Amino acid sequence: MSATTGPGWVTASAPAKINLHLGVGRVRADGFHPLATVYQAIGLRDEVTVRPAPSYVVTVDGDERLPLDQVPADESNLAVRAAQLLARRHGVDEAVAVHISKNIPVAGGLAGGSADAAAALVACDALWELRLAREELVGLAAQLGSDVPFALLGGTAVGTGRGEVVVPAMAPGEYWWVVLGADFGLATPEVYRQFDALHASDQVAEPAIPEPLMEALRSHDVLRLGHTLRNDLETPAVTLHPEIEEMLGAGLAGTAVAALLSGSGPSCLFLCDGSGHAHYVAGELAERGYGPVVVTSGPVPGARVERIGGPR
Ligand code: C5P
Repeated sequence: MSATTGPGWVTASAPAKINLHLGVGRVRADGFHPLATVYQAIGLRDEVTVRPAPSYVVTVDGDERLPLDQVPADESNLAVRAAQLLARRHGVDEAVAVHISKNIPVAGGLAGGSADAAAALVACDALWELRLAREELVGLAAQLGSDVPFALLGGTAVGTGRGEVVVPAMAPGEYWWVVLGADFGLATPEVYRQFDALHASDQVAEPAIPEPLMEALRSHDVLRLGHTLRNDLETPAVTLHPEIEEMLGAGLAGTAVAALLSGSGPSCLFLCDGSGHAHYVAGELAERGYGPVVVTSGPVPGARVERIGGPR
């Protein structure tokens, strides 16, 4: 199929994710780790615009505080791979130019690349008028990366498998977070390798979702949630970059309810008791010389079409 009708371009967005719980088990034979995780989508979104082009190309702009030059600008970019996978599966004989407008920190542990892939899937689905069911897009998303299905789904969800099996969780109300970025990135595989090294000689328990955390979410109890947050990648990340411990401590000193590493890091998350408190904590961090800080809230919706231009 080579589309000659339909929209001229489509812009879709997808959210950053955080892990309220990240339980990691012993590495599997395929090199991935079994996870029991609770995802929440937060209000930092990237936008991806796709338009027909003679060949696949990618351009990037966005928040100038981000190291945008570190986003792959070739076909290794996960958003381009998402568009190519969808085209291949559905016999679409048309390349697209992919433009990514970034707000989500790069290599920060917030799954920005996965968000871009999810947005590209949704955008190309609309551009090529495929109208695929969400479940079909989730199946493709899982082939692109462990966090991509959740970026499609959004909200709050339990993730199992290597993170790609996602089921929505009951979590009424909103939560306020301060996200503290770092001036260095962490490569996810490196943090998992460090996890393996630290646990080489112990028994690693099967990861499980803690019931007290799910209860705190169901009853929207911020203080209880603060006591139940946990990330098994925190110690490996701190071992690689000890300054992360100092960052986490700075947020607690700034009165955050709880501090947590985001995913494989290095971004740090601070749970706050409402919007006013979050802005106070962000101010305290800035005053202590930490940054960049962003105040945001979750849960928010997953990948969605924002604007459609055209016709061709
Ligand atoms: O799935 P994704 O491509 O995002 O994973 C990136 C890398 O992170 C993997 O190659 C692997 O090294 C590590 N990973 C892992 N276990 C998971 C998810 C990711 O070891 N459950």
